[in-house]
This record gives sequence, C-alpha cells and structure tokens, in this order.
Amino acid sequence: MKRIAVLVSGNGSNLEAIINAINTGRITNAKIVVVVSDKEEAYALVRAEKHKIPSHVFRRQDYPSREAYDRAMIAFLQEKQVDLVVMAGFMRLVTPEFVAAFRHRIMNIHPSLLPAFPGTRGVADALAYGVKVTGCTVHFVDEGMDTGPIILQEAIPVRPDDTVESLQARIHTLEHRLYPQAIDLWVRGKIKIIGRRCFIDEQETGLA
Ligand code: GAR
Repeated sequence: MKRIAVLVSGNGSNLEAIINAINTGRITNAKIVVVVSDKEEAYALVRAEKHKIPSHVFRRQDYPSREAYDRAMIAFLQEKQVDLVVMAGFMRLVTPEFVAAFRHRIMNIHPSLLPAFPGTRGVADALAYGVKVTGCTVHFVDEGMDTGPIILQEAIPVRPDDTVESLQARIHTLEHRLYPQAIDLWVRGKIKIIGRRCFIDEQETGLA
C-alpha cells in the first residue's frame, strides 16, 4: 500500500478526483495519509475533512525562510512515511532540499502543455498568447518551475469564444482524469525515468 500526501493551496477539485479514484478502484493499492495546505482557508481542507482524511496547515509566516519551511514539511512527510507527494494546485515552488528528499516521488499537475506557459497563470497566459491548442501536463517535480520529466499530457482545442473560465473548466475535466491515471501508473511501478524522459509500460493500453 503506497502512502500519498496531497499538497494543496486552494479549491482542491483535483484532490477530490484523486479521492474518488481511490474509492472506486481507479487508483489501486494507495491511500492518502495526509492533505497538507499552505493556506488555512483552502477549500481543499473542507474536502479532506468530509472524507475523514487528516490534514495539516503549514503557514509560510510561521517560518523564517523557505528553507526552514520546506525542512519542516520534509520532516513531517517523512514521519508520516509518505511514498509519493502529489501537488494538486499547490502554488509554491519547493526548495532543492525538498526535491532531493523525494526525488522522482513528487508529482505536479499543470494546466498547459509544458514547456509552454509555466507558472501560476497557465490558462490565462495560453489564452492571451492566442494558441489554438492547449491542455494539461502531469510531471515529476525537479528544481525548476514546471520543468521536471513529463509523465502524461493531453491536448484540447481552444475555442474562439473561450474565456479563462470556460477554458479552465474544460482543462479541469481533463485533469481529473489524467492525474489519477498518472498516480495509478506510478503506484503500480509502470513509469520508468531515463534522463528527463518518462517511459510508460507498453501494455498500458492507450498510453504507449
Ligand atoms: C489546477 O488547474 C492545476 O493544474 C493548477 O491549479 C489548479 C488547481 O485546481 N496548478 C497550477 O497552476 C500549478 N502551477 P484545484 O485546486 O481545483 O485542484
């Protein structure tokens, strides 16, 4: 049984999708042992409570530096014996020390086709740029911002009448399917990383 920590900052719809995937067997052999937020007001914490999942808030202002903040979080996650750290709308860049503590065991989801439009405004930036196709990316976290090895990506067309909200909504639907799929692949040991490329077991239909 793999032990997962989900890191959140906001609404937590991806957290909810992951919980549902575990409850319905689309993610096998894994359990969310804790939800961690950097924001006390994150609605994701309400979702965790509804599902009786323990949660913890790490407030940035309680620590003197980013390094001290991340060190506290590393110790906390190690104490919980976390195998996989899943960032789901967690809007903080982690330190190299955090990456090293969980190398290739931190996933993130991003609402664009990376390496295009990294950062916190992926959907708005893609729309403003005028791309005709965008999508979402699940990747491992490395020291850069949204630069780690890509696990899964899926594209959707941008419609002429799209707003940030309408495009975001369609990307969310995509994310809620893609993230559980990537987590399940990892839990079942189906992802091999060579350099910065991820290879998925060819028997995983529709993915190879
Ligand atoms: C998601 O769309 C995720 O891709 C994005 O935040 C949203 C969180 O939604 N993450 C980033 O932009 C990271 N740079 P949620 O709280 O409803 O899961």
